[in-house]
Amino acid sequence: MSSQDIPEETLPSTQGHAHEGAVATAGDPFADPGLPPHEPRMQDIDERAAKRSERVVAFLFMLSMLATVGFIAAYVTLPVDKNIYVFPIGHISALNFSLGLTLGVALFCIGAGAVHWARTLMSDVEVADDRHPIEAAPEVKAKVLADFKLGAEESGFGRRKLIRNTMFGALALVPLSGVMLLRDLGPLPGTKLRKTAWSEGKMLINQNTLQPLRPEDIAVGSLTFAMPEGMKEEDHDFQQEIAKAALMIVRLQPENIKDKQELDWSVDGIVAFSKICTHVGCPISLYEQQTHHVLCPCHQSTFDLADGGRVIFGPAGHALPQLRIKVNDKGYLEAMGDFAEPVGPAYWERG
Ligand code: FES
Repeated sequence: MSSQDIPEETLPSTQGHAHEGAVATAGDPFADPGLPPHEPRMQDIDERAAKRSERVVAFLFMLSMLATVGFIAAYVTLPVDKNIYVFPIGHISALNFSLGLTLGVALFCIGAGAVHWARTLMSDVEVADDRHPIEAAPEVKAKVLADFKLGAEESGFGRRKLIRNTMFGALALVPLSGVMLLRDLGPLPGTKLRKTAWSEGKMLINQNTLQPLRPEDIAVGSLTFAMPEGMKEEDHDFQQEIAKAALMIVRLQPENIKDKQELDWSVDGIVAFSKICTHVGCPISLYEQQTHHVLCPCHQSTFDLADGGRVIFGPAGHALPQLRIKVNDKGYLEAMGDFAEPVGPAYWERG
C-alpha cells in the first residue's frame, strides 16, 4: 500500500520549518513527520538570562583552572606519607586524595561548562537534512563551510569572548596535570645501580647477629650472609641498599679455589660473593657444600663459588660478582672497595 492509499487524516502532520509540506512519496508509506516548532528558551528572549548563563559557564571554566592549579600545588607541597581521615572512606593518603579531587573537579568543570554553554546559549534550532551521496560536490563543500560559519556565529564563539577565553584557559591548563605526573618517572638512576654500599674499610656484618665477622666465625661448609657496616634496618633506604649490597660468605679449602683472581680476593679460603642472582635479581640462598655450588631458587641458575662464581646451569648470563676482602688490624673481615662490576641482572651493565 502506498502513501496515496492512506487517508490523509491518518498520516502524521508535518511540522517545523525544515520539512514543511513533506509528504509520503511513492514507495514510502510513511510521511516525514517534520520537526516540532522551535520553543525559544529564556536565554533566547532575555539578554540578562543569557548573560547569567554566560557567567555560569565562565565560572565553571575558571573553577577548572583553579582546580588544576590546586592539583599542581598539592603535588608539589604534600608529603607522600601524610594520611588524612575522610568520611566515609577512612584514612587515606592526603596526596592521592588531593590529586584525585582536584583533577576530577578540573575535568568535570570543563565538561559541565561546555554542556551548560551548549544547552543555554548555543542555537537549539533542530534541523533535518536528507541523505546525500558520499562524494561531496563542490556546492556541498561550500554549504558545509557556510554551515560551519553559521554554527560558529550562532554559538557566540567569536562574540562571547569571556566564555571563549576562559575555555581556552581551562583547556590549556588541564594538560599540566599530566605533565606534572611525568615527574614520578624520575629522577634518573644515574650511577646508583652501578654502586653499592660497600667501600674500602667497611667491615662485614653478620646479617643475623649484627656483629662484625672474624675469619674464625666462618666454618668450612657454612653459608653466612653479611651486609656493610653502618647499615640499619630502620634506615629509609635500607631495602634499596641491601638489595644491592647483600653478600654471601663461604669458606673453601684454598686448594679447591680454581680461579686465581678469586683466590687473590679471598682470605684463608673465605670468599665473599654478591647474593643477588645475575638473572633477574632474586636472592640466592641454597648452598651445596660438597660441590661449592649455589642455587638460585627462582629459575635454578647455579653458580660455582670455587670457580669465580661462574654460571654452570640456568638462565643467568653472568658470573656472580665477588667482593675483595681482607682482615683488618682488629682481626675483622673488611671490604677492600666496592664490587668491581654491577651486581644483579646483567642488563644493568648496558645502561
Ligand atoms: S633470578 Fe635467579 S635464576 Fe632467575
